[in-house]
Amino acid sequence: NTVVLAYSGGLDTSAIIPWIKENYSYEVIAFVANIGQSEKDLIDIKKKAIYSGAKKCYIYDLRYDFVTKYIYPMLKTGALYEKQYLLGTALARPVIAKAQVELALKTNSIALCHGSTGKGNDQIRFEMAYTALAPNLKIIAPWREWNISSREELITYLKNRNIPTTTTVEKIYSKDENCWHISTEGGRLEDPWKSPKNECWSWTEDPKKTSNNPEKILISIKNGEIIKINNKQLNPLECLNLLNSIGSRHGIGRIDIVENRLIGIKSRGCYETPGGTIMNIAIRAIEQLVLDRESFKWREQIGLEMSYAIYDGRWFTPLRKSLQCAADSLSYFINGEVVLELYKGNVIPIQKKSHNSLYLKEYATFGQDSIYNQKDAQGFINLYSLSSRIRSLNKNKLKDE
Ligand code: ARG
Ligand code: SIN
Repeated sequence: NTVVLAYSGGLDTSAIIPWIKENYSYEVIAFVANIGQSEKDLIDIKKKAIYSGAKKCYIYDLRYDFVTKYIYPMLKTGALYEKQYLLGTALARPVIAKAQVELALKTNSIALCHGSTGKGNDQIRFEMAYTALAPNLKIIAPWREWNISSREELITYLKNRNIPTTTTVEKIYSKDENCWHISTEGGRLEDPWKSPKNECWSWTEDPKKTSNNPEKILISIKNGEIIKINNKQLNPLECLNLLNSIGSRHGIGRIDIVENRLIGIKSRGCYETPGGTIMNIAIRAIEQLVLDRESFKWREQIGLEMSYAIYDGRWFTPLRKSLQCAADSLSYFINGEVVLELYKGNVIPIQKKSHNSLYLKEYATFGQDSIYNQKDAQGFINLYSLSSRIRSLNKNKLKDE
């Protein structure tokens, strides 16, 4: 009997391999999802999995799928969890889980296993996906079963079995990385009154130390997707990678937030999404030109719903698909070009145009115009304010109205 473990090569999942063998009678197949985490994490990972006791190790490159089938659908809705978080960890879980399930079915495995703790969001996201895609597979979540209760104890557990780890007790941050973002939690960040140290930021330069010269970039967008940067045609993954490196240089996309986990606990984290922040701002800039007022409001509502659907692990649901369809129909109009100025952590759209822009200078101008009759506004306001007028004229109206 085999179990497919979502393996990262990190502290938690390394300990899980011997633990499953010691506590269940199962063999472990390590599954590594390449979703753009740093190369050095991937190079020796197979060796490490086998060394830790895995029977086999599979690495799948899911980067392109991640960008086109997960990141863009989210981006088109404008989802931002609790107004700030671009959902980098949340969005990665369904991609990993889907490929993991496929491998489990292919290898006739009887169970799926992940290394998330019993206190967080990730366990919910993994298991929501497992359940939606393979309801008959058993789920093993070691963090909810074993007696190890801290990262310090994990380090000892591995040491006792001669399994190498790069985590030390001092550098105790929990980092989660993919091509969209990197998150840092734990350690000194557990105290919201402690400011993040330099080591809490991995990708981006400190905005205080970045260039004093703003950099301008030209972004071309078609149907809500970025197709060119500075007139160079790039595929979605290349676009993201390039914007990550440009954005990091200017210290873009850092947030330091306290957020509400689904489970009810608050957590503090430092997240970096440099390329994603640029992409989001570019798309939103074109949106300003092309969406009418009611469509814009609707897009905001879709984004709010989508942020919870993704954060809460409801990717494989009819609700998510429906939100995605709604956002797609609006994205049809998101075409154009925007010039962004990047400067010390800021992304400022300074020029924008679209062939389907609704912005007409003739209407917008404060100067002379020949198409808009200002007298029309009077009739509009007379009717628009009618219910207020009637309420106000009522002699019996309540006092504090
Ligand atoms: N709090 C963020 C979220 O829930 C980031 C979680 C980080 N996960 C991790 N395994 N280190 O999406
Ligand atoms: C974990 O609990 O494994 C990481 C944090 C989270 O999932 O929220």
